[in-house]
Amino acid sequence: MNAVERRPLVTGQRPMTVTDLDQVMAIELQAYPFPWSRGHFTDSLAAGYQADLRVVGRELLGYCVAMPGVEELHLLNLTVAPAHEGQGHARALLAHLAEVARAQKAVQIWLEVRESNARARRLYERWGFEAIGLRKGYYPAALGQREHAVVMRWTLDPAAAEPGAAAHGLD
Ligand SMILES: CC(C)(COP(=O)(O)OP(=O)(O)OC[C@H]1O[C@@H](n2cnc3c(N)ncnc32)[C@H](O)[C@@H]1OP(=O)(O)O)[C@@H](O)C(=O)NCCC(=O)NCCS
Repeated sequence: MNAVERRPLVTGQRPMTVTDLDQVMAIELQAYPFPWSRGHFTDSLAAGYQADLRVVGRELLGYCVAMPGVEELHLLNLTVAPAHEGQGHARALLAHLAEVARAQKAVQIWLEVRESNARARRLYERWGFEAIGLRKGYYPAALGQREHAVVMRWTLDPAAAEPGAAAHGLD
């Protein structure tokens, strides 16, 4: 084993660019029955939305896309590659977004989540998001049906550390 091979791979966040979209789309298509199109990502990047990857070395673990607003961020996409779920990567991405929000003087992060997406809802609830409403028939569903979205909001406490970072010692 040479010196390069012994160097530990760094896990962390970096900005998403259009050159990442082949890898991003490969995960997106695995992760959702109704995935974003490539156009959703290119439009988000062109609009200057906050779009970041969670990586270990050159491997893509997950990503998030958020639209900045007045004193708020709207989380549009949070995805972890199926092979890397349950290892704290979504919480790390939320901790990253919380840092971004604080840097932008945002006071709230908003999101919509499918009513049936128990795993994601649990993640957000444990993080500190609260359900504050329902958008009826917001998402497409199987057999031409529609599914409600639960609207969730997390209000940043400027004095407190992010719950996810504290609980799991994330980088
Ligand atoms: C929902 C989703 C983002 C969760 O990602 P994830 O990386 O598996 O989530 P995390 O690992 O951060 O957290 C999940 C669980 O792992 C636990 N965990 C956190 N850090 C951990 C660690 N270092 N080691 C082991 N487990 C850990 C968390 O406590 C959490 O457990 P809990 O459900 O009991 O609270 C992922 O399943 C996904 O991409 N799903 C498909 C797309 C989707 O639905 N996205 C959300 C759209 S709104």
